[in-house]
Amino acid sequence: MKIIHSPAEMTAWAKGEAASGRRICLVPTMGCFHAGHLSLMRLARGRAERVVVSLFVNPTQFGPREDFAAYPRDFARDSRLAAEQGVDLLFAPEAAQMYPAGFQTVIRVSGLTRYLCGASRPGHFDGVATVVHKLFAITRADSAVFGEKDFQQLAVIRRMVADLNLDIEIIGHPIVREEDGLAMSSRNIYLLPADRAAALSLSQAIRLARRAAAAGERTVAVLAGLVRAHIESFAGTEIDYAAFVDAASLEPVEKVDARTLLALAVKIREKVRLIDNGFVLKAD
Ligand code: PAJ
Repeated sequence: MKIIHSPAEMTAWAKGEAASGRRICLVPTMGCFHAGHLSLMRLARGRAERVVVSLFVNPTQFGPREDFAAYPRDFARDSRLAAEQGVDLLFAPEAAQMYPAGFQTVIRVSGLTRYLCGASRPGHFDGVATVVHKLFAITRADSAVFGEKDFQQLAVIRRMVADLNLDIEIIGHPIVREEDGLAMSSRNIYLLPADRAAALSLSQAIRLARRAAAAGERTVAVLAGLVRAHIESFAGTEIDYAAFVDAASLEPVEKVDARTLLALAVKIREKVRLIDNGFVLKAD
C-alpha cells in the first residue's frame, strides 16, 4: 500500500490512474479504524480498480470545546489495517497542507444542517462539507463511501454533490455494530466498562421504538417519551437529541411513516458523545 502525505502528489497519482483507465473509490476517514471503517473499505474494494483511504483529523469540523486535541490517533495501526483490507493508497495530509495560510473558502449546506448535529454542533457540517469537497478534488475519486451511522453527514454530502454538480457517485454503507448492538465508533474507546450499559441504551431505544411502532403506535410524542425514558433510566446519560425526522429533509415529524428515522445523540458521563439512528418502521 502506497502512503502519500502531499495533496499535490496525491492528485498527480490520481491523474496517472485515470489516464490508465482505472477508477478510484475514496473512503474518507479520521482514522482510529474499527470494524465499521474496514467494512467501508471492503465495499470500496468491490467498486473500483483503486481504493484510496484518506486519513485526516479535520480541525475545522471540531468546535472549540470539542475533542480535536484528544481525538484518538494511531497511524501505524491504521496503515496496517488499511493494507490488510487491500487498500491501494492511504492519503494522510497535514493540516498545514490542507489549510495553508490564506485559506478562506467554506462550503455550507444550509437546510439539512438546521437539525440534529447541525443544531448542536454549530459550524460542524461547514467543516465536513469543505474538507470532503477538498478530498474529492485532491483524489479525483469516481465514487466515495460513507457510513449511515453519520446519517446527517451522508445527507449533507449527497446534497453538496447534487447542488454543485460534482461528478462522483456517493455510496452509503449500513451501520456496523458490536455484537451487543453498540454502533462502532472511534470514540467508543473513551467508554469505561461501567459506561457500557448507558452506551447500549441508544440501540436499545431504537429497538424499543420499533417494537412500539410495529404494535401500531404511530404518534411521535408517545414514542419519543418511551425512548427518552429508556435512555434516562441509565445513570450518566444526557440526551442531546432524540428526534423523529423525515429521512429526506431531516425535518421533525409528528406521525411515523416509512420514511421516519429516529436519530439519537447522547452524552455519556458528560464526556463521550454517541450517536445512532435507525428507521422506525423496520424489523430488527
Ligand atoms: P470518521 O468518523 O472517521 O468516519 C469515517 C467514515 O466511517 C464515515 O463515513 C462514517 O459514517 C463511517 N463510520 C463510522 N462508524 C461507522 C459504523 N459504525 N458503521 C458504518 N460506518 C461507520 O466521518 C468522518 O470520519 C469525518 O467527518 C469525514 C467524513 C472523514 C470528514 O472529515
